[in-house]
Amino acid sequence: MSDKPAEYTGPERVFSGVQPSGSLHLGNYLGALKKFVDLQDDHDCVYCIVDLHAVTVWQEPKELANQTRHIAAAFLAAGVDPAKAIIYPQSRVRAHTELAWYFNCVARIGWLNRMTQFKDKAGKNSEKMSVGLYDYPVLQAADILTFKATHVPVGEDQKQHLELSRDIAAKFNNDFDAPGFFPLPEPLIKGPGARVMSLKDGSNKMSKSDPSDLSRINLTDDADLIAKKIRKAKSDAGVIPEAVEELEGRPEVSNLVGIYAALSGKSDADVLTEFAGQGFGAFKPALAELCVEKIAPITQLMNRYLSDPEEIDRILARGADAASEIADPIVGDVRDIMGFWKV
Ligand code: AMP
Ligand code: TRP
Repeated sequence: MSDKPAEYTGPERVFSGVQPSGSLHLGNYLGALKKFVDLQDDHDCVYCIVDLHAVTVWQEPKELANQTRHIAAAFLAAGVDPAKAIIYPQSRVRAHTELAWYFNCVARIGWLNRMTQFKDKAGKNSEKMSVGLYDYPVLQAADILTFKATHVPVGEDQKQHLELSRDIAAKFNNDFDAPGFFPLPEPLIKGPGARVMSLKDGSNKMSKSDPSDLSRINLTDDADLIAKKIRKAKSDAGVIPEAVEELEGRPEVSNLVGIYAALSGKSDADVLTEFAGQGFGAFKPALAELCVEKIAPITQLMNRYLSDPEEIDRILARGADAASEIADPIVGDVRDIMGFWKV
């Protein structure tokens, strides 16, 4: 029997990542960025722009660095404070790719075959997708565990990837007789905004890759465009109901009410109490006003940050150094645990 503690007893740490591909939308804001800001005051937080994940599908080389700056500007504009949280691009910290390789040898093919996001993204073309897209969740596990992160704020769509990270951590600890070396990271998903749906179809999530721009509110949309998108959002001929149970079977209505609740910090029930009996002719303008009130300041700040790319680069470079300082020794320990040659 080993005398090592059976469970991880190290410090808590928050880690999350956002891909620099396409512009961010309201789902990213409510499902991720807003949570990042809420956590930074009383947690040790690391927020990564996951450019290595982005290149699992084609990214134009001339645009990639600017896409990274764009996400950094969105983090900063949403209120992530580099004095409190580390912000950096994944490709600048080598620990990610190194640990991903070790994890490739821990994770099982059967585990990856179950990943629904790959199936969704690849569709019928899985043979033509990059190996990286298939391996994407292993790199994600390496992202989290190279910081021994214990908590991961993400939207609902990342739940399965987080379960895989836990499985990889547990198998590594077990295979190498290193109980408690890696924590089993917990997703922080709950709360309003964990799954914001398309404005055009309440059964699909709001997504960067939806061909219809009317399906999402981008953080770069101006007030007129936001109002237009909400006006055109799918609803139904009914009125806002009184009780949460009555939202069942009305996915678009449920989504609009959920967005209002998440943005205003109220519960769905409170929003229903406020608007019960009203039609969408009354509710939609109120929702548009709230969206503009919350999004416009972020858009303005984002533009201000983007007008000074050197400042963004300084923040990212400092963040990358700070991230390496945490991640490199952890990967060094992994090398020792696995028994690689060293002098
Ligand atoms: P991505 O843009 O796919 O890198 O996602 C960045 C973060 O936003 C992840 O934590 C996702 O889970 C979250 N996210 C993406 N789409 C949505 C959505 N429609 N609703 C809530 N969260 C989302
Ligand atoms: N897969 C995540 C997404 O598409 C992005 C991501 C990469 C991530 N690495 C991560 C999220 C680590 C949380 C933790 O949204």
